[in-house]
Amino acid sequence: MLKGKHIILGISGGIAAYKSVYLLRLFIKAGAEVQVVITPNGKEFITPVTLSALSGKPVISEFFTANSGEWHSHVDLGLWADAMVIAPATASTIAKMANGVADNMLVTTYLSAKAPVFVCPAMDLDMMAHPSTQRNISLLRSYGNHIIDAATGELASHLTGKGRMQEPEEILRQVDETLERLSAETASLTGKRVMITAGPTHEPIDPVRFIGNSSSGKMGVALAREAARRGAEVTLIAGPLSVPAPEHPHIKMLNVTTAREMLDACTHSFPEADIAIMAAAVADYAPAQVADRKIKREENGIERIELVKNPDIAATLCAGKRPDQKVVGFALETDHEHEHAVAKLRRKGLDAIVLNSLRDKGAGFGTDTNKISMIFADGSEQFFPLKSKEEVAADILDAISK
Ligand code: PMT
Repeated sequence: MLKGKHIILGISGGIAAYKSVYLLRLFIKAGAEVQVVITPNGKEFITPVTLSALSGKPVISEFFTANSGEWHSHVDLGLWADAMVIAPATASTIAKMANGVADNMLVTTYLSAKAPVFVCPAMDLDMMAHPSTQRNISLLRSYGNHIIDAATGELASHLTGKGRMQEPEEILRQVDETLERLSAETASLTGKRVMITAGPTHEPIDPVRFIGNSSSGKMGVALAREAARRGAEVTLIAGPLSVPAPEHPHIKMLNVTTAREMLDACTHSFPEADIAIMAAAVADYAPAQVADRKIKREENGIERIELVKNPDIAATLCAGKRPDQKVVGFALETDHEHEHAVAKLRRKGLDAIVLNSLRDKGAGFGTDTNKISMIFADGSEQFFPLKSKEEVAADILDAISK
């Protein structure tokens, strides 16, 4: 898979930089063309002469070549690459990448790269465990970067606090496998239209209060991004999100607030869709009346609120579904998970349901991770371990595409 591939090897200034020499040699041996980009601090740990001798290319470190004034185009480099591997990625480089601090050639190239990016953290244990580093790694993961963490030997879905850089052979294996998987997936949804719901709905009580829930929209947004990456035309129907809206030329975003508005947007979009995935946490009830001014504490109006049932959006869509359309629901449960999920699958007429339970640590509302199982209309079930929501989205789309 790596034969003929263009790889940017980004090296930042950590003691693990010596391992990058072996990694570079492994990439070259596998037939890849490698361009090394090193930070100024990286050069304190490993000499560009060694790296350029092995890669057969001058090492890039500065924006300009000192003697000729020749400018290194990070944009061209970003477009040239089939993959960018940052090893070692120090706390400082990770922080700059997470926040777009483009003050060196490595981070500037990263910001221009269109290819998959692999980040191999390497730092002192305490630095790795610091909430700021963990937050930055979590941000990088949410941008779709692949974190290769020594702690698990896997594309880690959560950090376990160990700071050692992964071994070069293992980095090579994971880059190779991931590129292979990504190339099989790319374009697997080309020509398909996918409708996705995300986030909570807010049902107003008065101009300042509402009934809602803690859905952030992360799961639905991850699904939208992954479907678009696979070539689908995506319509994302989102309640009030607590995460940034995805920006992608193939994602059309429709913002709604209430369940009724979500129903309207869904019934309008669904006839065009091949697949609908209902990840939103829709409020089941709404206040029967919405006060047109803020209800005062002294008034009794807030103590008892009369509620009316909201329409079941998934059930409504399934009732009018064509045989060529698939509708996948979600079930967020707290007890008797399997039983409740199967009941929802049947009652709503879904093709499959994604079950997540609040009893599983790291699963459900607001988290960057999720632990799911999928139950299909034929009664079969597939289980998955705790993973990042991006990876969960890929698993769901793999399962539906089969
Ligand atoms: O947004 P995050 O913070 O990332 O959290 C993700 C999540 C926990 C919200 C997501 O993984 C999830 O489980 N979404 C569904 C939560 C839920 O409310 O499930 P439910 O069991 O109430 O509903 C079952 C299904 O019917 C869902 O597909 C839901 O979208 C749909 N539904 C529910 C009620 C309703 N009136 N209309 C519907 O279409």
